[in-house]
Amino acid sequence: SQQTPTRRGTLIVVEGLDRAGKSSQCELLRDYLSEQGHNVKYIRFPDRTTPIGKLIDSYLRGSANQEDHSIHLLFSANRWELAKSIEQDIAAGITLIVDRYSYSGAVYSAAKANPTLSLEWAWQPEIGLPQPDICLFLSISAEEAAKRGGFGAERYENESMQTRVRELFRTLFERQKDVCVVDAGRTLEEVSRDIQAAVSDCVAQLDTVGPLRTLG
Ligand code: TMP
Ligand code: MG
Repeated sequence: SQQTPTRRGTLIVVEGLDRAGKSSQCELLRDYLSEQGHNVKYIRFPDRTTPIGKLIDSYLRGSANQEDHSIHLLFSANRWELAKSIEQDIAAGITLIVDRYSYSGAVYSAAKANPTLSLEWAWQPEIGLPQPDICLFLSISAEEAAKRGGFGAERYENESMQTRVRELFRTLFERQKDVCVVDAGRTLEEVSRDIQAAVSDCVAQLDTVGPLRTLG
């Protein structure tokens, strides 16, 4: 007898500034999709558990310094080292929720205003990585972010960096037409309802989309 091929999983990326509510929304989405009968995994970048991830973690905590281009390539390498396992999970029918991805990668590095580290340069090492089926950008104003409490102690968690990151996310997502912008300045419930609707549409269209694509 013939076996029904496994329906592939969906690659879902959630992006946004610090305090936009990414982690809470990823958890709510995981619970929602599990209740719908999906086999779900929630991962995040940077993955601080690998050897490369440990270098990134010390850099973010400020206990180590790295040259701008060098740390950028480590963030990218941290995605490349997991690319195979992402592809395998998707092929095995697992739906992956990914907290930050190549978009954060390009934007945070370009926000340093290093003259030889443009958004274009920063995007190059991402080319060829698994392309998300849907990228949800949790958009929050500087004022709303400020209301949600102070910055953390890690590198990049300061007003001037966050302002540049916000502008660059906007620039990047004006070019990437396939991003789903969600107004994250509302209640958890309102935001999660929009996310669920967008993800459900995406999952429903998966058969017409075909296999997992790669970032270009
Ligand atoms: P986190 O707060 O989501 O753990 O992310 C840690 C910081 O790393 C955050 O400020 C965004 C930044 N980042 C990059 O600079 N490049 C990347 O590729 C990723 C995934 C995150
Ligand atoms: Mg953080």
